[in-house]
Amino acid sequence: MSPSKPRSCHVPVLLEETMEALAVQPGGRYVDCTVGGGGHALAILERSSPGGQLLGIDADPEAIKDARKRLEAHRNSVLLVNDNFVNLQATCIKYDFFPVHGILFDLGLSSMQLNGNGRGFSFQHDAPLDMRFNPEQEVTAADIVNTSPEAELARLIRTYGEESYSRQIARLIVRERPITSTLHLARIVEKAVSRRTGRLHPATKTFQALRIAVNLELENLEIALKQAIELLGFGGRLVVISYHSLEDRIVKRFMQREARGCVCPPGTPVCVCGHKPRLKLIRRHVITPSEDELRANPRSRSAKLRVARLIAQDDCLAADEMEILWAEIKTRAWRRPALLRKLQMVFAMA
Ligand SMILES: C[S@@+](CC[C@H](N)C(=O)[O-])C[C@H]1O[C@@H](n2cnc3c(N)ncnc32)[C@H](O)[C@@H]1O
Repeated sequence: MSPSKPRSCHVPVLLEETMEALAVQPGGRYVDCTVGGGGHALAILERSSPGGQLLGIDADPEAIKDARKRLEAHRNSVLLVNDNFVNLQATCIKYDFFPVHGILFDLGLSSMQLNGNGRGFSFQHDAPLDMRFNPEQEVTAADIVNTSPEAELARLIRTYGEESYSRQIARLIVRERPITSTLHLARIVEKAVSRRTGRLHPATKTFQALRIAVNLELENLEIALKQAIELLGFGGRLVVISYHSLEDRIVKRFMQREARGCVCPPGTPVCVCGHKPRLKLIRRHVITPSEDELRANPRSRSAKLRVARLIAQDDCLAADEMEILWAEIKTRAWRRPALLRKLQMVFAMA
């Protein structure tokens, strides 16, 4: 029996490229930090069968419902958790789901969220200005739009939307407040910008900025990437698909930094940071959708995939590290993923 389809299907972006980047293998364990409608998750489960396991996380409770329907056929191999990926490490520890073979972040919004189910993400449909991934979050887009000082609004729209008309938009918003609906805000932005820039609707960047601010998207991504690296087993893959330059910059810098040795400021005569590379970049450049995918799914147009794997190169524990390890074991801190990895390695070497 085929699994029942969710509300309106989200087409997973860069699907084949993602499976290849994750190097999905039978019996593998994977975390999908943005399970959404379950498109990538389904492919991971199919290709990691038999014996594969998937932990799927999403901040949006509706997404978890959709994913549960779509992944019904694999219900014994999947665990779905409604949480923010900022709590990735705590979630994996809670469910004893580490170390893993691969971790996927497919950032941003699903088609279900964008297609206007009253969540306020889109300026194509009228809805309350909400934009929260999780309706239990406190701050909505309406709160930000209607209470922020003009200078703060302009800063936010410029920084998170990379919008050059940010001051004009903020000025008009403040003049027209209160603003409670998506179409009302879109009209104000159109008036402030007064001309179209390329193919984008004038409100695109302002809506992106508000969504990022409401959901603390950039802050949460930075935190979650650091946690992800602690959860990977040796050779485990970290795969991130981003949809705008702010996200991609964070991912690129994170991966590049973790792939480097010394990260002391240039000109430092002797290394004082002691930083060791932990990731190996699988591809130096981003992977983007093919012409065929762009034609079939125009929403994939801004997608950029980056992939790295945890290296095992500095896996020799020096004697002093061994002592620290032993002390930590004795203090029962041994469930920490990084430590668990070291233990696995010690056993592998023995
Ligand atoms: C592009 S969709 C993922 C689609 C999914 N890969 C698929 O194939 O169906 C992004 C999802 O990430 C979720 N999301 C965004 N930020 C999140 C966060 N910080 N924590 C958890 N989920 C998040 C959104 O709610 C949305 O469902």
